[in-house]
Amino acid sequence: MTLKLALLGFGVVGQGLVEHLINHGEKVKEETGFEPMVVAISDFKKGSIYDPKGLDLKKVLEVLHTFGSLEEYPDSSDLVRDLDAVSTILQTNANTIVEATFTNVKTGEPALTHCKTAFAAKKHVVMTNKGPIALAFHELSELAKKHGTFLGYEGTVMSGTPSLRLPQTTLMGNTIHKISGILNGTTNFMLTEMETGKTYEEALKDAQSLGYAEADPTSDVEGYDAVYKVVILANAVMGKRITVGDVERKGLNTLSTNDISEAQKNNKCWKMLGAVEETAEGTIHAAVKPMLLDKSHPLAAVTGATNAITYSCNMSGEITLTGAGAGKSETGYALLIDLIHCEQQMKNQSHTLENLR
Ligand code: HSE
Repeated sequence: MTLKLALLGFGVVGQGLVEHLINHGEKVKEETGFEPMVVAISDFKKGSIYDPKGLDLKKVLEVLHTFGSLEEYPDSSDLVRDLDAVSTILQTNANTIVEATFTNVKTGEPALTHCKTAFAAKKHVVMTNKGPIALAFHELSELAKKHGTFLGYEGTVMSGTPSLRLPQTTLMGNTIHKISGILNGTTNFMLTEMETGKTYEEALKDAQSLGYAEADPTSDVEGYDAVYKVVILANAVMGKRITVGDVERKGLNTLSTNDISEAQKNNKCWKMLGAVEETAEGTIHAAVKPMLLDKSHPLAAVTGATNAITYSCNMSGEITLTGAGAGKSETGYALLIDLIHCEQQMKNQSHTLENLR
């Protein structure tokens, strides 16, 4: 089965995926047999193009870089323009939707509607949008299962660093009773900068100019971005059913420069940590807040925009994974690895069905 992809939203993340398909597609094909075809791209601002026989990806990037939109992509007898996102899901021959629209994390829209529409039309979905997964993970995975489709969401936590697939596949069989980590690059970067004497405002400005912070940095500095990730980890990795409102939250803006220098004097450091833990009584405690760590703590050494996560497992012990939490290449890779897994899962299912016949 060839995955025929429709990309909804063509910002940094979607372009990251397309660059990987152009630059690394051949190697990935040799290694895994994965050879997808991008048939449609629909972007609210840049325009929409659909060719049932497949788009020329080099041409797509060329026109985008030259004209800033997809309008100048060359016409052909098969080319259809101006399909909106829902029409792209319903009216194209794409069997897999790459959801990368700008999403409201409070409502999960429009991505939530896109996912539900795709599943009902028996199409797979991969995405890096935190909103829908934080708000409706169980509903979406049940819908995907009901329709025999695939839901990929690796990039919602730590971009291309496999913070979800590692515990879900490689660490399978363990009971993971606690997950904690540095889940937001902006605040970790700011703390590192503030330790060198910068003010909160200067550190935030640097984080914004380097592209780490979200468009509205409130979500980063007040801890909401990490709260969504904690909810995803609790629900998707630990199998719990918590919501955003269940997570205790305290922002980075509650720390003063004095708190930071006092910690340094005492050979300690502050880290904005996100954690979820199952207590001995079986209750769940989840929190995102600045926490004081000894300099010898493994997470104390994680500086700049780097993320890190520790899984406390009953059989394999504590395992810590460190890596990027954002970035065009990394987040584009998260989509790619979801797509490869999607195709492999579909192949395995059809082999199983054949064997049962
Ligand atoms: N703004 C986020 C961060 C990006 O700083 O980690 C990834 O969610």
